[in-house]
Amino acid sequence: MFRFPGQGPLAPDDVVIGPLDLATRIDEALAVQAVAFGLGSDEIAVRRQIVLRHLTFPGARAFGATTADGRLVGFVYGMPNDRAHWWSTVVEPYLRGQGHDGWLDDSFVITELHVHPDFQNRGAGRALITTITDGAAEPRSILSAIDTQSPARGLYRSLGYEDLAVRVLFPSAPKPYVVMGAPLPLRRR
Ligand SMILES: CC(C)(COP(=O)(O)OP(=O)(O)OC[C@H]1O[C@@H](n2cnc3c(N)ncnc32)[C@H](O)[C@@H]1OP(=O)(O)O)[C@@H](O)C(=O)NCCC(=O)NCCS
Repeated sequence: MFRFPGQGPLAPDDVVIGPLDLATRIDEALAVQAVAFGLGSDEIAVRRQIVLRHLTFPGARAFGATTADGRLVGFVYGMPNDRAHWWSTVVEPYLRGQGHDGWLDDSFVITELHVHPDFQNRGAGRALITTITDGAAEPRSILSAIDTQSPARGLYRSLGYEDLAVRVLFPSAPKPYVVMGAPLPLRRR
């Protein structure tokens, strides 16, 4: 089970959701992403620089899922969207083509969400994304995911995210992505 801090004694396999100093725990987080999403060592080195730069952007925040013995097994981070950010410049023409580019304003972007496979399907991913967006001042959230019927997309749909643009191509990414958006707070079951 996942738990929030202060919910009583922890069992060894409980996972606690709480704020994460991602810059300090970057290597643990990327190790989770590597096994959850499939990253090679070259890609990890590149992601490391990108994440550390993202964390300097205004409003960037991260939450982690941690076991009772302190192992990081999941994380999420994001920030208020800025149309000048690289991600926003790539998705903007696709959203504009669908009449959805207004979603780039007053929106909280989920940049990464990953849970270690050994800890998936216990509610940690759902708890991470609802926790970070509950703290957002923006009225909506956007994100991109690989354009396939993945567990991630199923989770996002169940939280109220809808497709805003499909077959979105990022430079150097071989697979097409979907951009999704949801009103905040995210839908509860
Ligand atoms: C996406 C991810 C973070 C979800 O984490 P998680 O802790 O397993 O998620 P939760 O247990 O909170 O929620 C699982 C939800 O995913 C969805 N889901 C899970 N397996 C699914 C499947 N095979 N098909 C469709 N939806 C599925 C369901 O909506 C499920 O919700 P439920 O509680 O109603 O069953 C995790 O699967 C992961 O790390 N995947 C690999 C990395 C990745 O794709 N990250 C996202 C990049 S955009």
